[in-house]
Order: sequence, then C-alpha cells, then structure tokens
Amino acid sequence: METFRTKSETETIELGKKFAENNLKEGGVVALYGDLGTGKTRFVQGICKAFNIHYNVSSPSFTIINEYKSEKITIYHFDFYRINHISELTEIGFDEYIFSKAISIIEWADRVTEILPDKRYDIHFFHTEQENERIIEIKKNDYTGH
Ligand SMILES: Nc1ncnc2c1ncn2[C@@H]1O[C@H](COP(=O)(O)OP(=O)(O)OP(=O)(O)O)[C@@H](O)[C@H]1O
Ligand SMILES: [Mg+2]
Repeated sequence: METFRTKSETETIELGKKFAENNLKEGGVVALYGDLGTGKTRFVQGICKAFNIHYNVSSPSFTIINEYKSEKITIYHFDFYRINHISELTEIGFDEYIFSKAISIIEWADRVTEILPDKRYDIHFFHTEQENERIIEIKKNDYTGH
C-alpha cells in the first residue's frame, strides 16, 4: 500500500493522473472509498486527464454511470452513493461494464465490494484536520487465484 498526502485539489488531480499513467490500462478496475468531499471525483478527473479526456468530469450523484471516451479508451465512471441494494446493479448490467475492455472507476465502492472483481485497485480517501489536505491510500488488490 502507498500513502499520499495532498494539499490542494490540484495535487489530488495530479496524483490521479500519475496513478493512471503508471498503472491503468484496458480492463482496469478502480474502487474509490471515502466520505463526501474527500476528493474521489477530483482523482477521477486526473485519471481522465492521463488519457487526454477533458470532459467536465463531475459526480452528480443522480447519475449512476458516466461514460468518457478518447480515441484509445473508454472510461466508465460509476457513482453508487444512492445505491441501496446490489440488485439495482444487475438492472444496469454492471457486470458487462466491469468485465469489459474499458476502465471502470467506482465511487462509493464499499456499497458493492462483494461484486467487484478481485483484481482491482482500492483507493481510500480521508479528510484531515487541515481543510485542504487529504490522505489517499492506494492499494493493489491482485488475487491470483487459490
Ligand atoms: N487536497 C484536496 N484534494 C481534493 N479535493 C480537495 C482538496 N482540498 C480541498 N478539496 C475540495 O474538496 C472537494 C472534493 O470534491 P470531490 O467532488 O472530488 O469529492 P468526492 O469525494 O467525489 O465527493 P462525493 O462523495 O460527494 O462524490 C472539492 O470541493 C475540492 O475543491
Ligand atoms: Mg464524487
């Protein structure tokens, strides 16, 4: 696990960009955990930047799936803040998204961990006593079978 401390939203965006450049490719799954306003969506902005996607990445919690495309890659950005039960995901065909060639990024992943692939990145976001500071822990989950 790697731990980072960012001092501004720009630093979190940059961290997301670096993370993506170093780790993400087709089929990648990234699970994001953390309270409201801890910077999950800023981090996603950075990931998109790494792939030259300059959409206005936001997380209106009403939209469950946002899709961003570049010439090379598709990114699915999920926000499960409002998901109450896993069965709501079967309705949207979640499996077909996360097991596709696209990169899938999931905010509020704690609501759906049991149906996430084992091979994924888990990233935890925390507030600190400092208003513009966040702690971000990046963990590679890579079970290679038993
Ligand atoms: N170090 C920092 N990193 C990221 N965001 C920061 C930081 N310091 C302050 N902020 C502010 O915190 C907010 C983070 O918002 P963001 O939408 O990324 O959070 P979120 O975790 O996605 O929240 P939600 O659960 O509501 O989707 C922004 O308003 C941003 O300006
Ligand atoms: Mg968000």
